This record gives sequence, C-alpha cells and structure tokens, in this order.
Amino acid sequence: MTPIPNSRIIYKAVPKGFPVPGEHLVYESNSASIDIDNARLHGGALVRTVYISLDPYLRGTMRDPSIQSYAAANQVGEPMKSRTICKVIRSEDPDFNPGDYVLAPNGDWSLHAVFTKADGLTKLQKPANVSLSTYAGVLGMPGLTAFLSLRAFGRMKAGETLFVSTAAGVVGSIVAQLAKLAGLKVIGSTGDDRKVEWLKEELKLDVAFNYKTTKVADVLKEHGPIDIYYDNVGGETLDVAFEHINKHGRIILCGFVTEYNKGERSSYGVKNLSSKAVSKTLSINGFVIWDIVDKEGLDAFQEEYRPLVEQGQIKYQETRYQGFEIIPEAFLAMFNGENLGKTVVAVSEE
Ligand SMILES: NC(=O)c1ccc[n+]([C@@H]2O[C@H](COP(=O)([O-])OP(=O)(O)OC[C@H]3O[C@@H](n4cnc5c(N)ncnc54)[C@H](OP(=O)(O)O)[C@@H]3O)[C@@H](O)[C@H]2O)c1
Repeated sequence: MTPIPNSRIIYKAVPKGFPVPGEHLVYESNSASIDIDNARLHGGALVRTVYISLDPYLRGTMRDPSIQSYAAANQVGEPMKSRTICKVIRSEDPDFNPGDYVLAPNGDWSLHAVFTKADGLTKLQKPANVSLSTYAGVLGMPGLTAFLSLRAFGRMKAGETLFVSTAAGVVGSIVAQLAKLAGLKVIGSTGDDRKVEWLKEELKLDVAFNYKTTKVADVLKEHGPIDIYYDNVGGETLDVAFEHINKHGRIILCGFVTEYNKGERSSYGVKNLSSKAVSKTLSINGFVIWDIVDKEGLDAFQEEYRPLVEQGQIKYQETRYQGFEIIPEAFLAMFNGENLGKTVVAVSEE
C-alpha cells in the first residue's frame, strides 16, 4: 500500500497566555504520511487513534522545557501528546493483537502512530454499559484522581459538608457524587447556569451555584461552614474557602486552573496561610495523582469505584468533539468553560 496522509496537531509555539488556535496548536492534514502495511514497528504496534483526551494540565506542558514541572514539556515542532485511546492495526508485540483497544499515556495527536514497549501501552477491555471513551474520563486518570485523592485525604464522614469547585467538570463531578454517596452535604461551584442545572437536577447536589454571578463567600456564609474543600481552581476561591472551613477541616489541592493561562504574571496568594491553617488545625494536601497511586488504591478503584460507574450510580457527561481540525478550538474552549464533564475528541471510528 502506498503511504497515506497522517493528520496531526502540531505544537508550534509556547503560548504566553491562552493558546491561540492556528498559532500555538496547528492542524496539519498532510505534512506527514504513513505506510500502514509496511511501516517499521520495531517490536511494537501500529495504532489508529480513536479518542484524544483534552485535559487542563496539558497547558502546563506547553512551556519552556528548561522549566521543571510534574508533567514533561511537549516539544515545539512535534505533535502534541496526551492520553489517547487507540485501536491496534498491526503488531509485533505479543501483548497486543490487531483489533485490541489500548491506552497510550503519552500518545501523539496524530491519526496513526507506532508505539513500542517504552511507550507504556495498556490494553483496554470495553467497559460495561458505558462508552470506551470513559477511559479518558470517568474510568481513566480523572476518575482515579477524584477517587484516590478523596480516599487519601478526605476522611469523609456522613453529615459533614464538602465544597468542590469546577463541580461540573470531570474530576469535580465525581468528587461531588462520591461525597453524596458517603452521606455528605455537597456544595458545588461552576461558571455556567446550564451546568448548575445539571448539578442540581441530575447529580442532586445540595447547593450548586454560578461563581460568575454569585459570590463564593456569600454561598459559603449561607450554606457553610464546610469541613472539606476540594480545590480545582486555586486563586480567590481557595482564599475564601479558608474563611469558611471548620476546625479540623481538610483542604485538598487538586488543581489551580485559574492560573494556567496567566503565563509569567504573578499567582494569587492565600493571605495569612499559616495563621489560618494553624488556628483551625487544618490538613492541607496537594498531590499529583501518579504520586499517590499504589496497588491497594488501584484495586479499590477497580473493585469499589468502577462498578459505581458501570451501574450508573456515578453519572457522567462528555463534551465530545469530532475530527482533528477542531482540536485547537476544543482545547481553548475547555479553558473558557464550554465543556460539561470530560472533554474528548473522537478522531476516528471505534
Ligand atoms: N492533581 C492531579 O493529579 C490532577 C489530575 C487531574 C486533574 N487535575 C486538576 O483538576 C482540575 C479539573 O480538571 P478536569 O480534568 O476535571 O477538567 P474540567 O473541570 O473537566 O474542565 C476544565 C474546567 O475548568 C474550569 N475553568 C477553566 N478555566 C477556568 C478559570 N480561569 N477559572 C475558573 N474555572 C476555570 C471550567 O469550568 P467552569 O465552567 O466551572 O468554570 C472548565 O470547564 C484542573 O485544575 C486539573 O488541572 C489535577
């Protein structure tokens, strides 16, 4: 077979603020090609990408590579990389057969790719009752993040109150539901009335509000105090949460999306952190998911959490885009809050 074009999204330049489609992330339909039948596999597998996961942390990988961070920097001039769900087309690796679905933890944003053992592919079983794409979301890294961080740091007790920001995102919505299942009162913030509606009507949060039109401080004053703050945003919301948390409260620092597109501009600081934490005997835990995963946690994720998703006790939403061309816009849209639940791009048929 003759080589065919291999569509890709190239990471062209380090953004200073929000990534601009066509400038920092560029769709290239035929700048590369691949010979599906004859490409060398080097003992690995040739795959067709089916779903590409778009995640907020990826903005942090678009940086000067000399700056150290927990996630490796993407390389300017190369295809962007993130977790991708792929179908094996050809394989020299006995662990993978044509037709298998695999998760590539650092997969190229290209229609076809060759992966070897070093790329850490995992074989995926089609989940029961839910879409394969959930391996990018509620059954993937974001699900693991919500489940394991609450388990490690939440010390949730029925009757307590938990506040979660970005409550209609994939991590936030799972945190909210796990807390409800554990018998807590749950308050969730989001930036969109349509999302508030989903949180109230579908997820049955006790309180859900739009932080763009209602002050966090007013809500926590009325419906708090809180025992746990699950922070996905950082900035002012985190500062306010300190004011409304009970003694022995837990603050779980998962992300700080308000800062991701600020470039070199200064970060928001929590005022009088020591005084607040000491006087209330607070537990404050930041974490990167890969630093808190262990065998016991993974077993619990499979045995306790996964059935909740497959049996519909944990609900989820996906904002699903189609095709390569849209990826740069879809990535930006996530930082404009246009996604409800997990942002995923379907780039080929399952
Ligand atoms: N620590 C870890 O290991 C780990 C692992 C996974 C994820 N995370 C973090 O968890 C958080 C949620 O991630 P996710 O995958 O579930 O994403 P997500 O919530 O599904 O999507 C991003 C959402 O963030 C909100 N947002 C974007 N820009 C914002 C801004 N400037 N100010 C306030 N809100 C903004 C928007 O929701 P609204 O419409 O509600 O504003 C947007 O829909 C992120 O901070 C992410 O980095 C951490």
